[in-house]
Amino acid sequence: MATISNSMSTLSTSDAQNPVDFYRHHIAEKLSPIVNKPVEDLQKVLSWTQTLDKGDLMLPVAALREKVKPQDRAQEIAAAFPEDESVLVSCKANGPFVQFYFKPEDVTKRVIPLILESKHIYGANLEPGLQDPSHPEKGKKKVIVEFSSPNIAKEFHQGHLRSTIIGGFISKLYALNGWDVIRMNYLGDWGKQYGLLANGFRQFGSQEQLAKDSIAHLFEVYVKISKIKAEQDVPINDLKKQIRDQKQKGEDTSALEKELEPLVEKSEDEKARKYFKSMEDGDPEALALWKQFRDLSIDKYKKTYARLNIEFDVYSGESQVDTQKIDNVLASLKQQKIAEESEGAILIDFAKHGAKKLNKAIIQRKDGTPLYLTRDLAAILERHEKYHFDRMIYVIADQQNEHVAQLFKTTEISGHKDISDKCQHISFGMVKGMSTRRGTVKFLDDVIQHVKDVMLDVMRKNDKKYSQLDDPEATADILAITAIMVQDLTGRVRNGYEFNFERMTSFEGDTGPYLQYAHARLSSIERKAGADIPSLNSADLSLLKEPHAIDLIRSLAQYPDVVANTLKTQEPSTVLTYLFKMSHTLSSSYDILQVVGSEPELMKARLALYEAARQVLWNGMTLLGLTPVERM
Ligand code: ARG
Repeated sequence: MATISNSMSTLSTSDAQNPVDFYRHHIAEKLSPIVNKPVEDLQKVLSWTQTLDKGDLMLPVAALREKVKPQDRAQEIAAAFPEDESVLVSCKANGPFVQFYFKPEDVTKRVIPLILESKHIYGANLEPGLQDPSHPEKGKKKVIVEFSSPNIAKEFHQGHLRSTIIGGFISKLYALNGWDVIRMNYLGDWGKQYGLLANGFRQFGSQEQLAKDSIAHLFEVYVKISKIKAEQDVPINDLKKQIRDQKQKGEDTSALEKELEPLVEKSEDEKARKYFKSMEDGDPEALALWKQFRDLSIDKYKKTYARLNIEFDVYSGESQVDTQKIDNVLASLKQQKIAEESEGAILIDFAKHGAKKLNKAIIQRKDGTPLYLTRDLAAILERHEKYHFDRMIYVIADQQNEHVAQLFKTTEISGHKDISDKCQHISFGMVKGMSTRRGTVKFLDDVIQHVKDVMLDVMRKNDKKYSQLDDPEATADILAITAIMVQDLTGRVRNGYEFNFERMTSFEGDTGPYLQYAHARLSSIERKAGADIPSLNSADLSLLKEPHAIDLIRSLAQYPDVVANTLKTQEPSTVLTYLFKMSHTLSSSYDILQVVGSEPELMKARLALYEAARQVLWNGMTLLGLTPVERM
């Protein structure tokens, strides 16, 4: 029986190795006397190539910062480079670059055994300077990634979906590069609307429904009560306007005010305000219901996140920010004259702090209550105190760019530049058209369900394969999630995109199902050949001679550099582009590098190559948060 195991061995990221580093060192040593630069500096500038026709490593001559024209200097360097037949096959100048080509036999024997041995660790990098082996007491660097952060009882909209997918990826990326990662969900779980919700629940809620599907039920209650509130608001606002108008004219408004008073008193808005006030005052009964909503929502969120291979370390939220901290922040901002009073409220006028673009932000309402920004300000300080993070990344939609910029700026000018310097906003664009035939979807589960239905239709078209699946529903579920995630991770994070059900579920083109297909096909080759994975270590790799095999191996060698580069770009597309390119190389090899029907030794060598490719695909896919399938 074929074993396609990725049993987590005891290897950790600190055992990670990059095969290209050997070449980097080798080339840098030979270059050093030619360009008169230390080996370490040269190792840093030798970079990976986007396409293999440009070599395996290249030196961008401009990076040497010499006064000579890089084009001319590239020629000189290539001519002076001592060819070493045992490691490299060629070195040539191409415009302002010097390109180096690894010797096929050499790279083969370095890369394949390394992948087969290091398995899921292949591609992991220990970011330089992260962990000093001579100072283990310093420990790892710590990053907080705050992402997803939906609002209880409201829609889990496209912004939350993107934040979840991108944030999940960013946290995996940092973990793979040796960081200690804290995944944090900052729930929207506090404010007057939870008073409204609680009162709504008392009128239309059902504990039974709540237990069954908390999120949908709370949303339903919230919509109902909001509608009532909106209806009540009409006459109230009308009267308020009349009163304002009459006051302006100097007329007596007491009759109107008498009329208004009972309307306000009876209104859901006022009842919500009172309920929330009792929550703020710590009334146990008021809090108990709210806490039940919160806990049940978290339970439900957890299940959905698990489908995306995401688990949070901390469920924080607006409710969790310490009120004392909020008061301190307000007091400190007032005392430092960063915030000022304006018509009873307290605000920051950023123009007065050299940041006119950030406009003004209220941090305390007329009635004394703090705002979204105020809580975030207190939360930054609280988190720094509690976790001593080296970096904190907020994955939030670009609609909140101003909010986040105000948050960082205020933190900076209020005496915490050391903290704001550690904070980063990963801002992403909007997703458009996330609606189905049944209407606009409101919850993540609905989106997945819809894509899954489309996926099942596509899968049923291949009767034979469909009938071989143990659990087609489960496979369709994974494929649907893959389709959604890959579509989301394909473009640049800061660009938005159009949700396209048809395109994302297609097996052709650079889609999620295509990647899954590539993985399933490799698994199937191994299955059919009855591959015994551990014995592949003894394969005679010198039999891998065809240009297709060599190209694939060179491509596999690049993966650790791709991961390291992704940490710099923080763009999931860096990984995806690579995986698609590698999969294309793969699919063009199948006809030439056949397994079944080859001589036993050749078969074994090719299986070793395919298993290495499958491992790299698996590693890249799981880094993106996908679950590779073995059959589909
Ligand atoms: N709950 C917010 C929303 O749905 C997102 C929270 C983002 N994080 C933050 N620290 N402000 O809009």
